[in-house]
Amino acid sequence: MEVALLNHPIVASLLTRLRDKNTSSVEFRIIVRQLTIFLGVDATKDLACREKVVETPVAEFRGVEMDASIAIVPVLRAGLGMAEPLFELIPQAEVRHLGLFRDEVTLQPVTYYQKLGDKPADVCLLVDPMLATGGTAIAAIDILKKWGATDIRFLAILAAPEGIAAVEAVHPDVKICLGALDERLNEQGYIVPGLGDAGDRQYNTL
Ligand code: URA
Repeated sequence: MEVALLNHPIVASLLTRLRDKNTSSVEFRIIVRQLTIFLGVDATKDLACREKVVETPVAEFRGVEMDASIAIVPVLRAGLGMAEPLFELIPQAEVRHLGLFRDEVTLQPVTYYQKLGDKPADVCLLVDPMLATGGTAIAAIDILKKWGATDIRFLAILAAPEGIAAVEAVHPDVKICLGALDERLNEQGYIVPGLGDAGDRQYNTL
């Protein structure tokens, strides 16, 4: 399985501010947007393009346009803050929502909303800021594969090694793009050192 880690000083400093428990919800959302742009650029750098010829004011230019249909799939609710910046980056994409939450006792994913279209996109950008146990990611990827998706890229801001191993065991074909890989999970299923609950911190519901 391919795991791509962003390696950039701007990303490192943004991640530090994101992790800081004193960072406000407003700033947290802004940083999620900024990091998602980096992730989106990195996750799409090999997308198929076809030739497109345009006229500049000076001469003909033989350029390209994208040749793949793209679905942005946020896992509700924490993934929503990543869907908007990705949609700005790829305005021709479609956005499909998946509602999955993690049962706080069993830590197992529960599906409460699923609205995918008839035809799967060529490339699915599945977004959830935290890849923790991997349970939600695996359930979401299962759903996308049943939909017919074949090229699935999972974008997360932080991951725990346990989550990557779990996804790799079931879905080794899925590419994972990360802001950073943290040390471990704690007993409550939180990523350590992590940033706390990404949904609560984005939506000011601490
Ligand atoms: N989900 C979160 O929001 N934070 C974690 O640390 C793990 C899962």
